[in-house]
Formats: sequence, structure tokens, C-alpha cells
Amino acid sequence: MSQAIRSSDREPGTFSTEFAQELHKLFRWRRDVRSFSAEPVPERLVYGLLEEAVSLSPSVGLSQPTRFVYVESEAARWAARENYETANAEALAGYEGEQKRLYASLKLSGMKEAPVQIAAFCDEATRQGSGLGSATMTEALRYSVVCAIMQFWLATRAAGLGVGWVSIIDPASLRQSLGVDPNWAFVGYLCVGWPDEEHLDPELERAGWEERRQGESFISRV
Ligand SMILES: Cc1cc2nc3c(=O)[nH]c(=O)nc-3n(C[C@H](O)[C@H](O)[C@H](O)COP(=O)(O)O)c2cc1C
Repeated sequence: MSQAIRSSDREPGTFSTEFAQELHKLFRWRRDVRSFSAEPVPERLVYGLLEEAVSLSPSVGLSQPTRFVYVESEAARWAARENYETANAEALAGYEGEQKRLYASLKLSGMKEAPVQIAAFCDEATRQGSGLGSATMTEALRYSVVCAIMQFWLATRAAGLGVGWVSIIDPASLRQSLGVDPNWAFVGYLCVGWPDEEHLDPELERAGWEERRQGESFISRV
């Protein structure tokens, strides 16, 4: 145990076997959720998880570039939904035959019913962190936002909530319709609510679109 841990008032960073098992269970049960119940979500719960995700998740150079925006007004929700519908119709047009038919049958967002909707942006002009770590890879700022989203995703699942990530969106038009800072790059649109169903397998697998492969096929050595 390091002196830093012993000498501070922090709890030692060790976790029980039971916790480790529960954590793996959380990984297995985290799903991309596209169908939500109408039950309202406690405002403090989601706000607290967002706050925690921004403050505790890793970020390049400790830049904390994540900017979460609640999409609440009728006008903003309508614009986001229209954006998705248009992008989805364009995506559909790119497929043919049986794949097109299958794509058309997929539910690819819960924007119609999700009680909480959040757009996640990356402040690419942030001065926090003084550019450390992102000089050769400016995209590291956006990766940091993804880390915050992932943390939020897991934490919401642990609280019994579901998150659905929507990327079928035209980023420039979304930024414009939400009126956010021009330096903010769109990273993802998150639908949040109580899930209608719980599953161990991805919805796209159940729908016959794609199969989840075992992780070992993606790991190599050089
Ligand atoms: C960056 C990113 C963008 C995604 N965009 C969409 C989307 O626009 N619509 C959708 O239905 N799912 C979207 N998903 C969810 C994936 O389809 C889902 O994670 C994948 O099918 C595996 O399912 P699971 O998350 O339930 O394990 C997105 C996921 C990620 C990580």
C-alpha cells in the first residue's frame, strides 16, 4: 500500500471479490436501450451521475472537455428528432434488398419516448489541461468525452436506468439547432430512462442484424 494512500483519509483502493463479480455482471447487463417506460426519472439521480462522470472519468491532460446539454424544450427535442429521422432515412437509402428491409424494421433510437435526453459535446477550445497530451492527437479530447459517456452509461445501469446512444444525427445541424458554442464538437446523443426490457444480448443481435463476437478475435500481438 502506498504512503499516499496510508497517509490520507482516503479508503484504500481495494475491492472485494464480490464487488469484482458484480462489476462483471454490470458489464454483461449493460445494454444500449431504445425502449423506455413512461415512468419519470428523478432529476437529481441523472444530474448526479452526469456530474460524477465529468469529474471522475479520465481526460487527456485533465482537460475535462465534456459538455453535457439537457435537451428539454419541445422545440429542441423536435429539432433533434427531425434531425434523426432525416439522417435515418438517408442511412436507409444506402442499403438494398433484404438488408434494407431489415434496417427499416430496426428501432434505432428512443427519442420518441425517453424522458431524459442529453447531447454530449467536446469543447475543443478548452484551455484546461493546457493542451497536454493532445498536441499530436487532437482527437484525444473527443476520446475523453467518450470515457465520460461510458462511465455515465455504466453508472446509470447500476442505478437501474438505461441509456441509448444515438449517432444517426447530422452533427452540424444539431449543434446549430441547440445553439451551442461553435467550438463544441458533437459526440453523442443519449436517451435515458427506465428500460422497458432487460436483456443479456444486444438488440441488434436479437434483430438478426449483427452477431457479437468474442473479444479474443480482436486482440493480437506484434
Ligand atoms: C458510438 C456509438 C454510437 C451508437 N449509435 C447508435 C445509434 O445511432 N442507434 C442505435 O440504435 N444504437 C447505437 N449505438 C448502440 C450500438 O448499436 C450497441 O452498443 C451495439 O449494438 C451493442 O449492443 P449493446 O450496447 O446492447 O451491447 C451506438 C453505440 C456506440 C458506442
